[in-house]
Amino acid sequence: MKRKVTKAIFPVAGLGTRFLPATKSIPKEIMTLVDRPLIQYAIDEARAAGIKEFIFVTSRGKGALEDYFDNAPVLEQELRKKGKTDLLRTLKDTNMESGAIAYIRQHKALGLGHAVWCARRLIANEPFAVIMTDDVIASEKPCLMQMIEAHEETGGCMVAAMEVPKDKASAYGVLDIKEDKGAIVSVKGMVEKPDEGTAPSNLAVIGRYILTPKILQNLSKLKSGAGGEIQLTDAIALELEEGRDVFGYRFSGQRFDCGSKAGFLQATVAFGLGRPELGEELRAYLHNMLSLSEAAE
Ligand code: UTP
Repeated sequence: MKRKVTKAIFPVAGLGTRFLPATKSIPKEIMTLVDRPLIQYAIDEARAAGIKEFIFVTSRGKGALEDYFDNAPVLEQELRKKGKTDLLRTLKDTNMESGAIAYIRQHKALGLGHAVWCARRLIANEPFAVIMTDDVIASEKPCLMQMIEAHEETGGCMVAAMEVPKDKASAYGVLDIKEDKGAIVSVKGMVEKPDEGTAPSNLAVIGRYILTPKILQNLSKLKSGAGGEIQLTDAIALELEEGRDVFGYRFSGQRFDCGSKAGFLQATVAFGLGRPELGEELRAYLHNMLSLSEAAE
């Protein structure tokens, strides 16, 4: 019988250098899209997909992340006293059940693969999800839920995949396709950040994975790959070399790369427009700005 996916790893130990100086003292994952930190979007998606255990791979300076998920009794009491029930509910939604979250330290940023490997003892022998909090996905059905449903059919390892323009493929891990079955794509190879013009397809891997425990053994064997880091892609590629199944999943939804400034700004606008209390005013403002800049040209 297939094991249900109930554990997710959130690798949040990176340095976040693209957001310096902000990330000098704030973890990138605490930066807010409208009024919710990136990490909250990731947690909500995981919860909706049936994840029960949340494993954060953190590093020095990420204490704000741990505090974020704690209860805030003083704040709650104050809101209760003032009868602010909506805010109280919003606050309570961020509380996590005791024991549902574990924090593991990655002592040195040796790469995404290494970060995942750091959580090996908490995963033991079952399939698990990896969620990159930088990739925020707006979709009707949460992306991880789509993937877990597809994974129930396929088994093996599964990565979220998205079409990208050919000239952008060298920024991603790219799939070499064996068989394209629509949403599910069977994969025969994966290349991390291929040199320009050498990408095997335009189907790029983005930050959602469902992995078998075998990946953790593969990671133990790996030496550093592209960029001097231990790459998760290499551990998945090893599965293919050893004849096991790997699938890409073309999710439906829009992905924002919130690890980059441009992506973060786009996500802020998109999520702002989607909020009933802000959308109309923001739309009018953007419309005005654009008309003014067109008139100036
Ligand atoms: P990035 O490649 O975006 O690196 O990592 P970064 O440090 O977060 O940001 P920049 O590039 O310096 O601006 C992708 C994800 O993998 C995690 C990061 O925290 C981020 O969520 N990661 C990366 C780790 O947990 N450990 C690592 O050694 C590397």
